[in-house]
Formats: sequence, C-alpha cells, structure tokens
Amino acid sequence: MKARLLLLWKLLREDGLLVVQIDDNEFARLFLFMAEVCGEHNLKVIVVKMAEPTGVKMVHVLESGGIPKLKEYLILAGKSGIRRLDVERVPKESWDPEYKLVLENTNKQELRELKAIIANPARSAAEVDRAGRLCARFVFMTAEVVCRRETGGPPSANWLRSNAWRIVRTVATSSNAKRLADAQRQRIAPNAGAFVVETPKRKLYAMKADYNAASAQPRMRVLFADDYLTVHPGDFWQDIKTTGLGGEGGGDFTSGKKPEALLKRIIGMATKPGDWVLDAFAGSGTTGAVAHKMGRRWIMIEMGEHCHTHLIPRLTQVIDGADKGGVTEAVGWKGGGGFRYFRVAAAP
Ligand SMILES: C[S@@+](CC[C@H](N)C(=O)[O-])C[C@H]1O[C@@H](n2cnc3c(N)ncnc32)[C@H](O)[C@@H]1O
Repeated sequence: MKARLLLLWKLLREDGLLVVQIDDNEFARLFLFMAEVCGEHNLKVIVVKMAEPTGVKMVHVLESGGIPKLKEYLILAGKSGIRRLDVERVPKESWDPEYKLVLENTNKQELRELKAIIANPARSAAEVDRAGRLCARFVFMTAEVVCRRETGGPPSANWLRSNAWRIVRTVATSSNAKRLADAQRQRIAPNAGAFVVETPKRKLYAMKADYNAASAQPRMRVLFADDYLTVHPGDFWQDIKTTGLGGEGGGDFTSGKKPEALLKRIIGMATKPGDWVLDAFAGSGTTGAVAHKMGRRWIMIEMGEHCHTHLIPRLTQVIDGADKGGVTEAVGWKGGGGFRYFRVAAAP
C-alpha cells in the first residue's frame, strides 16, 4: 500500500484528487502515512455509512454485546488542497413537483457563478450586470421534455436529484419587487429569458422575463431547486444505499464491492467529462464502470484474475448499453466507447 500510494501521489495532476476508502482496522495508520506523504493540510476525512444494523451480523452483535460496524472512511488528498470540489447535493425531502422547469442554454459553471452573486449581499455593480447577462441567456423548458430528450423516459427521482442544479420553479414576489421588475423589464433585450432586480435591501432576484405584468401577483421570481430541496452532504455520507447491491455490475464479488452511487459522487465531485480516473485496486470494476458511464477516461489495475472474471464482462456490458443497473439511469448512460487491456510483466 505504501509503495502504491507514493506512486499514485507522484502521478497525480496538480489539481487532482486521491481518494482512499479504508475501514477502522487500517484507518489510523493510513491517515498518518498519508499525512506524511501528502501533507496533513491537504487531507480531509469523510465517513460513509456502508451497512445497515440488520441481518446476520446483528445476531452476533446482540449475543456478544458488541457494536456493529456500519461505516468506512474516505481519506481525500488534494495535491493543491481540498477545494473546487463539486459535491452532489442530497435531497432534504421528497421532490416538490412545482420544481419542474429546466434552465437550458447555460451550464453548471455559469449557474454556480450566478448563485454565488445572488447569495452575496456585498456584490458589486459589475457582478449585478454579470448576473443579468447570465440570466438573459436562459431558455426555460419543462423537466419532462428535457428528461425524455436526454434519457428517453420521464424524470425519475434520481434524475431530478442529479439535475437539481439546473431545475427551478417560479413564485410570486412582493409588490415592491414586482414594481422594480416592471421597470427593469423595459430595459432588457427582447429575447432575454430572465433578468435580475436588486432591491434596496440588496436582495438580488432572478425574474423570468415572460411574466404577465397585468396580473397582480404573477409567478416570476426564479427559485433554484438545489437551494431549497437539496443539501450538501458534508463529511458524513449516510444517504447512499448500501443494501441490495449484489446485482450491480452483474458480479458475485463480495469482498468490498462499492455502490456505484458512491463512485458517482466521488468521480463527479473531482472530475469533468474527459478527465482521467485511475483505480489501482479494481476488484469488480465499479470505478471503471461508473467512470465510463460518466464520460471519463479510466485506467484500472488489478493483480487477481478479476480482469477476466469481472472487469472485462462488466465493462463490456457497460459499453454495449446492456448494464441497466447502478447509476446508468441517473447519468443517462446509453452505451458506447471501448477499452484495451494489458498483462504487465513483473517489475525487474
Ligand atoms: C476491495 S477490492 C476493490 C473493490 C472495488 N472497489 C469494487 O467496487 O469492486 C481490492 C482489490 O484490490 C486488489 N489488489 C490488492 N492489492 C493489489 C495490488 N498490489 N495491485 C493490484 N491490485 C491489488 C485485490 O485483488 C482486490 O480485487
């Protein structure tokens, strides 16, 4: 493990992230070693709930009066510190069906910038202008239409959650804010999808441009689903389903197979489509399968026979679009791509 970690750290890009999952037995030693190699200020520990207090293990726990093991750790090491991670939000409650409009002609980066400007009462006039320009580009489509176009089916809870960053609803606003909006709307380009108004109390609202000014309380103010319906999971990930995953990837791999949803969160927070993901302990191939479905390039290394028994069959299914399980639906995966594999000689 030590030699492998040293090599991985050396290989990692300056803005890259190394993630190691480890249980209680080895956690303390590994953390100290990684602090030495990577610098303690570059580390962050996340606790992941990996089991339920149910099943056979509880019989033994109840007999012995012990404590069941439900968690594992992720040790994150960022070469340039722990920052710029785009961690997917988790639902606060069930999805509110009023959140049914998707913003198009924009992207995650732009919406993140816009939300930061809205959240900052000390914003400058230039930032208000920038927010207005970002809103002007918006095209509002229903989630139903966008999801059917992208996945072929209606929006599932998973799809809504993964797309919360670009899903919105509109609500009525105060009569003062409406007066400001009526005045501001005279000044915007005729094809603008939305615009912003800043109130005397320095609140910044995004307004959908095509509201009916004749109505006393038109639904015009744009609320972003990820502000209201989802929450940052922080350093305690307890929402990922860990039971009933035996069928993921079609394998019968029992020793440490990870849920695809966990790899989706890790790969999603640290990489963009086209980036490289390397797993030096491939096992049943969860990392490669999820990386592939998310449009990342990947390398997996495995010393066992798993390449033939697990990795090739699993990735072939992914490429053929035959793997319907795991995160396939959430990421809208349909199939495609390919891979090569090599048997490497022992080091001299
Ligand atoms: C716990 S499993 C990984 C499970 C994987 N994350 C998954 O979801 O299926 C660890 C794997 O690392 C492999 N392994 C252990 N030491 C290795 C080494 N030095 N080089 C390559 N693979 C190794 C083992 O054969 C085993 O398949």
